Amino acid sequence: MSKVALDNTKARLGPTAEQVHWLHRDIFDWIPERRFDLWHDRAVFHFLMDADERESYLHVLRSGIAPGGWVIIATFDAHGPTHCSGLPVVRYSPTELAQIFAPHFNLIDTRSEEHLTPAGLVQPFTWVTLSPSS
Ligand SMILES: C[S@@+](CC[C@H](N)C(=O)[O-])C[C@H]1O[C@@H](n2cnc3c(N)ncnc32)[C@H](O)[C@@H]1O
Repeated sequence: MSKVALDNTKARLGPTAEQVHWLHRDIFDWIPERRFDLWHDRAVFHFLMDADERESYLHVLRSGIAPGGWVIIATFDAHGPTHCSGLPVVRYSPTELAQIFAPHFNLIDTRSEEHLTPAGLVQPFTWVTLSPSS
C-alpha cells in the first residue's frame, strides 16, 4: 500500500495504531520475515499484467503464509473496469482467479461484490478465499 495511505490510516486509528506492525514494501522486493495467518489483498494482484509478476507474487505469498492460514484476494471481476487508479488491470472470474493459485492453494469460497466507490462508481469485484495445500 502507498506510504500516504498508510500514514492516513495510522492517523485515523490514533493511539490504536501502535498495536499494528506496519510495513511499507514493494511486494517484489519483500522477503517475509515471518509467516502470517492471514493474507488480505484487495485490488493489488490485478495490477500484475505479466505471468512473471504473478509468479513472483505467488512465491512471496507461499513464503509468507502460515500452514493452515487464510488468503483473501479481491480483483476486478471479469466484467469489471479495465483500469484501476488509471492503470490497466487483469480482470478475473472466480474460477480464473482460483486457477492462478492452484495447485498450491485450495479454493474455500468465492464472492462477487458490487463495490460502490466514494465517487459513486460501481466496481464489480471477484473475491476468493484460499488456504495453502498441505
Ligand atoms: C487500488 S489500491 C488498493 C488499496 C487497498 N488495498 C484498497 O482496497 O483500498 C492499490 C494498491 O496497490 C499497491 N501496490 C501496487 N503495486 C504494488 C507492489 N508492487 N507492492 C506493494 N503494493 C503495491 C498500491 O500502493 C496501492 O496502495
